[in-house]
Amino acid sequence: MSDSLAVEARGLVKHFTTRKSVTKAVDGIDLSIAEGSVFGLLGPNGAGKTTVVRMLATLLRPDAGTASVLGHDVVHDADAVRSAVGLTGQYASVDEDLTGTENLIMLARLYGFAPAAARRRVQGLLEAFDLADAGSRQVKTYSGGMHRRIDLAASLVLAPRVLFLDEPTTGLDPRSRNQVWDIIRVLVDDGATVLLTTQYLDEADQLADRIAVVDHGRTIAEGTPSELKRSVGEGAVHLRVAEVADRARAAEITERVLGAEVTFDSDPHAIAARVPDDGADAVPGLLPALVAAGISVPEFSLGQPSLDEVFLALTGQPLPPDEEEGAERAPAKPGPRERTEASR
Ligand SMILES: Nc1ncnc2c1ncn2[C@@H]1O[C@H](COP(=O)(O)OP(=O)(O)O)[C@@H](O)[C@H]1O
Ligand SMILES: [Mg+2]
Repeated sequence: MSDSLAVEARGLVKHFTTRKSVTKAVDGIDLSIAEGSVFGLLGPNGAGKTTVVRMLATLLRPDAGTASVLGHDVVHDADAVRSAVGLTGQYASVDEDLTGTENLIMLARLYGFAPAAARRRVQGLLEAFDLADAGSRQVKTYSGGMHRRIDLAASLVLAPRVLFLDEPTTGLDPRSRNQVWDIIRVLVDDGATVLLTTQYLDEADQLADRIAVVDHGRTIAEGTPSELKRSVGEGAVHLRVAEVADRARAAEITERVLGAEVTFDSDPHAIAARVPDDGADAVPGLLPALVAAGISVPEFSLGQPSLDEVFLALTGQPLPPDEEEGAERAPAKPGPRERTEASR
């Protein structure tokens, strides 16, 4: 196996058998994750993401196939894998009745830090994760965003070289999501390898160097974020002009700048244009061109393809409805990411 791969998996399979049925949760997945990179496992609820992570983290034994983390086999060398890996997410959790500080101190002591060193390590983590003030409160009083941050901090007490983050932002508000993204970026800058699972295309797009789209336990597409998005086109521009009389001129300019055909909807102020595959670089120039022509544009947005659209393009099928997953709340699916600017 190559030394530059942090995670390598070949033909991973996992079935779950209940009295009623057999679920092929993971049905032959291959992974090659370069050291120091962020790899996104993107897929809808029930796709098999958590099962893959649990096999790689040695918490579940594969039914078939092989996997190694930093060259250690996840079945035959499980202890070595565990000591190299940090895991956080849907099934790894801190103790709700303890305070944030108590949780981290307990972990640091378990990992063999002496009391004074444990206190220093924990203080540093609490500060880095913006939890210094909350450290003395029981974790059950934390907001969703604080909870994810203490989970992340707990997985980092030992500064692992490989980190598995299982849906680290599902259900978080946008501000907390951004905080978690920033933390992940810092970890990667420090050289960690991250395997991130997510249901959100924009999250994988923001963080991952490569993405595998999984469904029904199989990889249906793999590539860089831009390769995946190109497979469905770059998205669409929507704008509204302040003066109805400016719409025709705005449409002309939009067609010229983007090289795309404009569509009008029933709102007499509105214009929409699908961005052509090679037109994404022209989008930032559109608003200044309109403003320079004396057209006031109070609304301008660029919508990215959503996971639903990527899915539809890759499979010809819409995303399946969320499956029940024990006590886990099914998160709301986000719409296309919208970046909105208004001209003066
Ligand atoms: N312990 C289990 N027992 C039975 N079925 C399971 C178990 N864990 C997961 N599954 C099933 O395996 C499939 C994949 O689940 P999972 O890996 O949790 O998907 P994801 O993390 O992508 O939402 C789902 O159909 C799920 O219901
Ligand atoms: Mg999961």
